Amino acid sequence: MTLTTRYLGFDLTSPFIASASPLTGKIDSLKALEDAGTAAVVLPSVFEEQLRQEREAIDAFTALQADTLTEAQSFFPDPALYERESHRTLDLVRAARESLDIPVIASLNGISPDGWVLFAKELVDAGAQAIELNLYHIGSDPAVSGDEIEARHEETVRAVRQAIDVPLAVKLSPWFSSFANVAHRITHAGADALVLFNRFYLPDIDPETLTLERTLQLSRSQDLLLPMSWIAMLRPHHQNHLALTGGLHQPLDAVKGLMAGADALMSTAALLKNGPGHLVHLREGLIQWMNAKGYSSLDELRGCMSRDRVRNPDLFERTNYMKLLDSWPGL
Ligand SMILES: Cc1cc2nc3c(=O)[nH]c(=O)nc-3n(C[C@H](O)[C@H](O)[C@H](O)COP(=O)(O)O)c2cc1C
Repeated sequence: MTLTTRYLGFDLTSPFIASASPLTGKIDSLKALEDAGTAAVVLPSVFEEQLRQEREAIDAFTALQADTLTEAQSFFPDPALYERESHRTLDLVRAARESLDIPVIASLNGISPDGWVLFAKELVDAGAQAIELNLYHIGSDPAVSGDEIEARHEETVRAVRQAIDVPLAVKLSPWFSSFANVAHRITHAGADALVLFNRFYLPDIDPETLTLERTLQLSRSQDLLLPMSWIAMLRPHHQNHLALTGGLHQPLDAVKGLMAGADALMSTAALLKNGPGHLVHLREGLIQWMNAKGYSSLDELRGCMSRDRVRNPDLFERTNYMKLLDSWPGL
């Protein structure tokens, strides 16, 4: 059984990709993921704020050095050390390229129009074989309309697309009034793949200390339903690649994601919980299931439950809500 998959212009050995997480942030664990069979890796996002802060620290340091007597300069650390630290994230791209045979996708989380373009180019120059833009925005400003946010996203994708010559994926959140329209516009702005979805980590209130607490709860299999449903709904309208991220824990989750129409299946939480070897369980479980059910290729499975191919497509939409509420057994 071959699981060969085309994603972002690469011929992957399977649809399974390790998505951005601390596991993809170190060469040791990247190697372990490759050995366990991940078909590609997405490195942890480079945050524009982080890169800018580091650059500003270097500029301040260099200016201070220029104003300081030669004798005093010897008390300062070697500027090359600072430079190396500032390129920690770019260094990871270089090191990952040197150490791995699988495609290395770098993820970027920018804030300014210039920053997206500048740092995307730097990641490509460092060796990234594809870029994943992480469009993460909480629309909390009442003065900014949804239209403005969407137009900004579109412009970001268009500008990065024009600036780089490697495949471009865009990781999105589902929280738009018309997600299907946003997906369409982002695709037309130049995204070769959409990665669904960004996971939001909302803070919790501690009523005792009256403080906000950061929470990082890993996904569970039921979180699969959101990306799975949207992939099924988008599939008939999209020729470009769709990657599922969120809730992929067991082989059956992979089956459902593929049936919905996903090209690539990304995993983080399950790998953090179970270790890179979980990829073997996912891959072998998928093969076993396909063999048992008589599927001979991924193409037969992929998209067989997309919105245009299921018998009751309206279950993806409003009637799902109505029927679901009515289905609750009487008290
Ligand atoms: C500890 C941790 C760190 C993550 N870091 C990033 C990141 O840097 N960039 C990104 O786009 N997603 C990041 N994610 C999100 C994952 O890539 C993934 O999209 C999300 O966890 C949903 O997939 P899952 O259900 O397989 O965990 C992170 C997730 C976790 C748990």
